[in-house]
Amino acid sequence: MARPQLRYVCQACGSAQPKWAGQCPDCGEWNSLQQEAAPAATPFSAKHSLKAGGQKLAMLPLNASIELPQRLPTGFAELDRALGGGLVPGSAVLIGGDPGIGKSTLLLQAAGRMARAGLGVAYVSGEEAADQVRLRARRLGLADAPVQLAAATSVRDILTTMASGPAYALLVIDSIQTMHSDQLEGAPGTVSQVRAAALELIGFAKQTGTCVILVGHVTKDGQIAGPRVLEHMVDAVLYFEGERSHQYRLLRAVKNRFGGTDEIGVFAMESDGLAEVPNPSSLFLTQRDAPVAGAVVFPALEGTRPVLVELQALTVRLPSGATPRRAVVGWDSGRLAMLLAVLEARAGLSFANHEVYLNAAGGIRVIDPAADMAVAAALVSALLDKPVPTATIAFGEIALSGEIRAAAHAGLRLKESAKLGFTRALAPPDTRGVGGLTVAPCATVGALVDRLAGKQ
Ligand code: TYD
Ligand code: MG
Repeated sequence: MARPQLRYVCQACGSAQPKWAGQCPDCGEWNSLQQEAAPAATPFSAKHSLKAGGQKLAMLPLNASIELPQRLPTGFAELDRALGGGLVPGSAVLIGGDPGIGKSTLLLQAAGRMARAGLGVAYVSGEEAADQVRLRARRLGLADAPVQLAAATSVRDILTTMASGPAYALLVIDSIQTMHSDQLEGAPGTVSQVRAAALELIGFAKQTGTCVILVGHVTKDGQIAGPRVLEHMVDAVLYFEGERSHQYRLLRAVKNRFGGTDEIGVFAMESDGLAEVPNPSSLFLTQRDAPVAGAVVFPALEGTRPVLVELQALTVRLPSGATPRRAVVGWDSGRLAMLLAVLEARAGLSFANHEVYLNAAGGIRVIDPAADMAVAAALVSALLDKPVPTATIAFGEIALSGEIRAAAHAGLRLKESAKLGFTRALAPPDTRGVGGLTVAPCATVGALVDRLAGKQ
């Protein structure tokens, strides 16, 4: 008998290797390869044709009539917004986020609210004992919500219970990494276990119309731990972001088969759980009277809502020859390197002998490309040690040529900024001011530097 083939599967990216290695050749993760039995090879000869023997599919036109299932409100307008308008029955949603960010809290609150609204809701915790969850529910003021609670890790037990009980509208699994499928060998949390458990739970959602929400842990580098394949299997992937030391949390959709991925939900962590923040535009601003060098306000656009964020840059001069540090919180470090290069090549400003630190205030992560101009303004202001005048905002995308490109929805950004008392905008050329807010157009990074240096 042939020996079963062995292979080594990376627990970070799911790629299979014939040989063990210390580092995954695909994703570069260290010590992530684990031995697994390879699936039995199906005999297949080149003579075999797949053109016969199957069932003929009924091909349909794109405009065939469809019945859209009614979406279920979760009791949190901000969660509904991130989901694209509520939970779609029969869908599987993955919610990722750092440990302690508030995933369990958010889902227990949503479960409680849905149960109070008369929907059947089951909450299965694989991480905490039932008493711990009850204690949290009491603290959240949800002790009387008719949520069906279980502490379990066996997918078979969970699905058996689901099949024998009443129909549920929502099943929360906290977390998928603790679940175990007995169809397969291996400890919970390994790629194959997570994949098998998720597959069965997603299958259950599709067959019964119950929404399944899976909580997924996130590794240090921000990926949902274990397989990225999980992201392909579910209908929607939401990330719960924020700094644990700050109060605000953003729920961001990175994939949604039933809606857009541009809307975010904004929450604040309070002593009695998560509270919604329906109007987040001024959350990430710092109140101060005198302007400080290196601080610039950027009107970011999150979905359809403007959110003003203070970006802070600090440069520290080093003796020549030392390697300067670049540290970034809340923005892309590759993009920072690019902007520093553009400022050097197109505006003649050298940061080579300076350490550069960049921070987005309030623990928000900025991904709007129009942040370039605000970051550049912060860097230049820090380097020249010249504050940007108070009540000034900056936005626009910067090209490698040093030109400043128009940003989407400039009107919306300006209107919200004017509402919050800003009076001047460093913006791409051809941006029109709105009532009370004048535009100082900058066509290139050179023009921006001249304005900040006070030459224009
Ligand atoms: P949790 O939901 O357990 O995070 P996750 O499931 O993502 O790991 O959140 C735990 C944190 O939230 C914990 O550090 C305390 C804080 N918290 C509050 O501030 N207020 C509350 O009412 C609750 C329940 C938690
Ligand atoms: Mg948790």
